Amino acid sequence: MSAVNTSAQSRFHSVETAPENSAVQEQAIAVFRGPHQPATDIAAKVQALETLLTGAAAEFDSIALASSLAAEDNVLFDVIARLKLNIRVFSLNTGRLHQQTLDVAPALQTKYGQTVQWFEPQAEAVETYVNTKGRDAFYESTALRKECCGIRKVEPLARALKGAKAWVTGQRQAQAATRAELPVREFDVDRGIEKFNPLANWSEADVWTYVRQFDVPVNKLHFEGFPSIGCEPCTRAITIGEDIRAGRWWWEDPTSKECGLHNANLKK
Ligand code: ADX
Ligand code: SF4
Repeated sequence: MSAVNTSAQSRFHSVETAPENSAVQEQAIAVFRGPHQPATDIAAKVQALETLLTGAAAEFDSIALASSLAAEDNVLFDVIARLKLNIRVFSLNTGRLHQQTLDVAPALQTKYGQTVQWFEPQAEAVETYVNTKGRDAFYESTALRKECCGIRKVEPLARALKGAKAWVTGQRQAQAATRAELPVREFDVDRGIEKFNPLANWSEADVWTYVRQFDVPVNKLHFEGFPSIGCEPCTRAITIGEDIRAGRWWWEDPTSKECGLHNANLKK
């Protein structure tokens, strides 16, 4: 197990450089899924991604990337910054994010000279929820969980997208049952604007190949068993064999695990 811990500390530790012992190696890959994904040939996918984002930026004069500061979103950030695309980038600071997630924003600033624009929940709505339902009432029922997500994520998203004609997300089909049919481009009926999911058909290994190739800054939690990261109290590390989003709202039914940012996924 010590080999697992040692490898987890390395920033871009690939499968190729994992410990010799294959049992330990397999365990390391399973526990720390994301960063240990093997390299894939992503040349064609990168080209398609660049073409898609360049086209989207040309088609819509007001377009924004919603970034959770996870590896997928940072891949998109890297393309936008490298190609100097006119796509605004924002993050929703729910007030319950891990410090490691907040730390990604200055890392982006250091590497690219630009970072995300933060949007925060309405203080009064948060206060009312905390004082009437309880700060962590989201554990009690899906309804209370959705209410918290509504206050801390969905309402701020509406403000972040005000005036936007299209938005971009880092969602992938392989992330969840609710995303299996996710298209690269769709019309967001909830918001009445176009929505792009440019990484829809990217595998987890593709994402990590890109991260290594382009030296993209990533959330340190990805190296500690968190392939999917949301708010701190609603995210836990996964263990061997678990689904990539098993650590998100782990007490809920997997077929309903969407927070309201992407409700269309549930209607399909
Ligand atoms: S979700 O269940 O929280 O919506 P996930 O963490 O898998 O899902 O993120 C999917 C996509 O939703 C991200 O790639 C990003 O586009 C958007 N997103 C999620 N959380 C945030 C956030 N806090 N700020 C901005 N965008 C976010
Ligand atoms: Fe609230 Fe959890 Fe949703 Fe974050 S993920 S907004 S803490 S219910």
